[in-house]
Amino acid sequence: MTLQEIKKDFKESCENLFNQTEINQFWKWFEENLVKIADENNRSNQYKVWIDDLLNGKPIQYIFGYAFFHRYQYFTDSQTLIPRPETEELCELILNSNKGTHQIKGIDIGTGSGCIPLTLLNERKEWKFDAWDISAGALEVAKKNAEKYDLTQRIHFSQVNFLTNDFQENDYDIIVSNPPYISKSELVNMDKRVVSFEPHLALFVNHDVMEFYNALYDFFESNTNKNAQLWMETHQDYCEDVIAIFSRKFEAKKIEDFSQNPRFVCVTKV
Ligand SMILES: C[S@@+](CC[C@H](N)C(=O)[O-])C[C@H]1O[C@@H](n2cnc3c(N)ncnc32)[C@H](O)[C@@H]1O
Repeated sequence: MTLQEIKKDFKESCENLFNQTEINQFWKWFEENLVKIADENNRSNQYKVWIDDLLNGKPIQYIFGYAFFHRYQYFTDSQTLIPRPETEELCELILNSNKGTHQIKGIDIGTGSGCIPLTLLNERKEWKFDAWDISAGALEVAKKNAEKYDLTQRIHFSQVNFLTNDFQENDYDIIVSNPPYISKSELVNMDKRVVSFEPHLALFVNHDVMEFYNALYDFFESNTNKNAQLWMETHQDYCEDVIAIFSRKFEAKKIEDFSQNPRFVCVTKV
């Protein structure tokens, strides 16, 4: 098949499943990757694999193995959550609140693809980060992303279960976390593509939707410097509950996302 024939087949195959905007967006990914394959037979065969995946509901970022995030392109696979636009906003909020050339020691808890700390390190050359995740598979992808952007000297990855570990005291300036925060009871109402393809370890909590936030409270209290910041992404329905946990002792501010949903909490030691 020529590229023109593939494009025609692509549009016909997709027209009953996706809207026009999605079809145009997805075609861009296909075209960008198809033109890299010079041999026409190989290209047609590869196209068939990719279009089958797309029609079976596989997210485009898993089909091609990368996602766009902020100004960067990170590897993703089925072991990492696909980085979300809200999380790009979280990075922007942190960067806007921390301009200038100070040295900062940060940690990202539940790093997934590493999109948060790697974006911060790409934008702030003096910063260093630790990045923890329970998933060995996610950490492998995050390490590949660090290598891609030549950041391995400024980030240290560890496989850690944040809910059970006994931590050595530390002195972080910034803690960031976009932890799992969805209750399994929400599963039936969720987008099937998310539930079928994205790692449940990244999405769902075991029992209590507050479990990571309670652990983050203890960690923030004893592992940070004076004036430290904690930035968290939350479920829009529980943002106020997260504020309530942290307001017991710290200053906690709610921040809305671009859809005006309460989404982020910034906590400072005062
Ligand atoms: C919502 S995802 C966020 C991934 C990435 N930070 C992002 O924003 O795209 C949550 C991450 O927490 C990790 N995780 C889940 N349970 C954990 C635990 N008990 N300890 C450490 N990490 C955990 C998951 O593997 C997943 O990568």
